Amino acid sequence: MKILSIESSCDETAAAIVEDGRKVLSSVIASQVEEHRLYGGVVPEIASRRHAESITGVVNEALSQAWLSLADIDAIAVTFAPGLIGALLVGVNFAKGLSLATGKPLIPVHHLRSHIAANYITHPELKPPFLCLVVSGGHSHIVMVEDYTRMRVIGATRDDAAGEAFDKAARTMGMPYPGGIELDRIAEEGDDSAYTLPRPTVAGSPYDFSFSGLKTAVINLIHNAQQKGESLCKEDLCASFRRAVVACLTENLFKAAEDLGVRTIVAAGGDSANRLLRRELEKGCKERGYSLYVPDLSLCGDNAAMVGSQAFYEFEKGNLAGSDLNAVATLPIDYQ
Ligand code: KG4
Ligand code: ZN
Repeated sequence: MKILSIESSCDETAAAIVEDGRKVLSSVIASQVEEHRLYGGVVPEIASRRHAESITGVVNEALSQAWLSLADIDAIAVTFAPGLIGALLVGVNFAKGLSLATGKPLIPVHHLRSHIAANYITHPELKPPFLCLVVSGGHSHIVMVEDYTRMRVIGATRDDAAGEAFDKAARTMGMPYPGGIELDRIAEEGDDSAYTLPRPTVAGSPYDFSFSGLKTAVINLIHNAQQKGESLCKEDLCASFRRAVVACLTENLFKAAEDLGVRTIVAAGGDSANRLLRRELEKGCKERGYSLYVPDLSLCGDNAAMVGSQAFYEFEKGNLAGSDLNAVATLPIDYQ
């Protein structure tokens, strides 16, 4: 089964063609990141406009790279939630139009479920159940993936997402958006014990996260140093901050795995590209004899191939939509 999938939840316009959930025939991404960088973050109005301008070309390119026409496609899939509402609407309306015009089924896909599905492409042998750490710019979750379309949220952030904390800390250190990537690169050169930063926990909820206090601590440290005219070592600060975020993520994840008796760990989302997170997951899983799966680096960020993968399993479950499908800005991963 060949699915044409569309993603426009944030600042990448993407389309892909994926066969039977696992084989990527084409994947095209038009990124707007350069334009949003001018403003230090994603400007929703600009994002929607750029999606509207790019989407036809991106979908046509995905078809032509796979040497296919619309007639060869069996279904249309689209990210419908969660994300920036105006951005999501562009993809949803385009997919609805394609579905109406061709009579092909329309498959709505949850963005975080698709991030998890990036692993089905990278690891053809991977099947649920497993415990997944979903870490992106907007979300930090520990999710028990019972089956392809059945999930249970075990823990979540109470405030900022890990990616958001990385990006804000990086911005305060003068790095361009999205700074999480550069912070990770610079941290490789630093001493992660040079600065003492808090590793917040949530009382009574051992699997939940809280990153806003940690983010504020590093921002205060920078501002205090600036006011006193003291210089900070950027490499050491990046390394100490990254160590604190990753320690919070891995501690809760391994605690949840132990308590639930799960021995297969998966990572997903933009921040699963983080070098230290990948190393610590590898180390922790090795020590405990767990299996670890992380997405290929090319599939960590937003793309449509992962949407096409998850769509295959949503289709198998009969999770289809009609022309009344709407975009939803906020929706839990276990919505059905
Ligand atoms: O999943 P994603 O592409 O978009 C959302 O769904 O939010 O995640 C984007 C986030 C950004 O915050 C970016 O800074 C972060 O992923 N990111 C990283 C790295 N690569 C991307 N954060 C830390 N280390 C990285 N290597
Ligand atoms: Zn994402």
